[in-house]
Amino acid sequence: MSLDKSRDLYNKARTLLPGGVSSPVRAIKPYPFYTESANGSKIKDIDGNEYIDYCLAYGPNILGHANPSIKQAIINQLEKGWLYGTPTDLEVNLAEKIAALYPSIDMLRFVSTGTEATMSALRAARGFTGKNKFIKIEGGFHGAHDAVLVKAGSGATTLGKPDSLGIPEDFTKHTLQTPFNDIEALTQLIEKNQDDMAAVIMEPVMGNIGPVLPEGDYLKDVRKVTEENDVVLIFDEVITGFRLAMGGAQEYFGVTPDMTTLGKIVGGGMPIGVFGGKKEIIEMIAPSGSVYQAGTFSGSPASVAAGLAVLDVLEKEEVHKKLNATGDMMRSRLSEIVSDLNLDYNVVGISSMFKIFFGDKPLNYQDVLKCDKEGYVQFFFKMLDSGVFIPPSQFETNFISTAHSEDDIEKTLTAYEANLK
Ligand SMILES: Cc1ncc(COP(=O)(O)O)c(C=O)c1O
Repeated sequence: MSLDKSRDLYNKARTLLPGGVSSPVRAIKPYPFYTESANGSKIKDIDGNEYIDYCLAYGPNILGHANPSIKQAIINQLEKGWLYGTPTDLEVNLAEKIAALYPSIDMLRFVSTGTEATMSALRAARGFTGKNKFIKIEGGFHGAHDAVLVKAGSGATTLGKPDSLGIPEDFTKHTLQTPFNDIEALTQLIEKNQDDMAAVIMEPVMGNIGPVLPEGDYLKDVRKVTEENDVVLIFDEVITGFRLAMGGAQEYFGVTPDMTTLGKIVGGGMPIGVFGGKKEIIEMIAPSGSVYQAGTFSGSPASVAAGLAVLDVLEKEEVHKKLNATGDMMRSRLSEIVSDLNLDYNVVGISSMFKIFFGDKPLNYQDVLKCDKEGYVQFFFKMLDSGVFIPPSQFETNFISTAHSEDDIEKTLTAYEANLK
């Protein structure tokens, strides 16, 4: 497999872009492949290599790349102009759909990224409660804004830098941390800081260090303790929204938070973020309230048109049943392979998310850090050589799309077996 053109482009790119990339997780060492195009389940690099893609842009492309229905919706919108700076019927229609699917969302605001969504959600929760502190889960990733870049998952953990320089301690002194799946620790932290505790923000399934799944009644217990202590519970469903079910993890697990953040899938692959929640909280947002939030690109017509198109397909074709069944099959076949090869590895996942952990099944961030992440990177390169693109990190989730055929899945399983061997 030749990657000569990618290598040459990378040498130029790293003189212009830090690390040669536009987002850290893409910086595969010694150099990443540069993409020429992508269609369906496949992504093609500029050297002409083609890979079955389980990265899928880190989650958004649940219908695969360049889905025809979404493409047409974007083209139709482009014909009419793609940025107005005025309200549109599109945003009202998408808001209505989202609110109908997420019982936690009475009202919402569109923003441009998941980062903006969690940043604004936390501001709203603080504005609403008049309190300053919030709790995040160790290893949780909520984008790259100051308050949440503490023990952050995703690229931050992959690079071994879960905290960031350039953030004054004053900006994170209100950010408290607790391990996932430990209700006692969370309860104690809330009770100890009750006077100034505004919110708990969490990924209901930890997608940026795994996936790591909630055990037993953990999410229900989180809901109970936050409710009892008047703490706003925010589910960050940027990954799990429209992935686990139309109504996200909150539908899947039957737990309703006070606020929800969405992104990725809900823009059909175009830039988007959403934060929403109870009417009394979201009405605090400007101009109806005094929590300020604004954006030139918020509710961008092309993104919202793509969002309406993807939700249409997901709903009409009842996609989740089939996708979740494919996920079950993938996990059970991978588990057989791991067990036949007598490896001390674990297959984890839920719905159309999966991963092999090079170590014990993790329950939280500390467990995840014990896995063989260097071994995983070697495995990643072998898979790439076999024509399968999985995320280049032990800490990022693999995603399946509706575009993955049976043949893709069989080829992938064959590659897993050969390369694990
Ligand atoms: C759970 C979660 N929240 C927030 C974000 C940030 O979203 P964005 O990259 O669109 O800013 C991500 C990104 O991966 C995420 O996984």
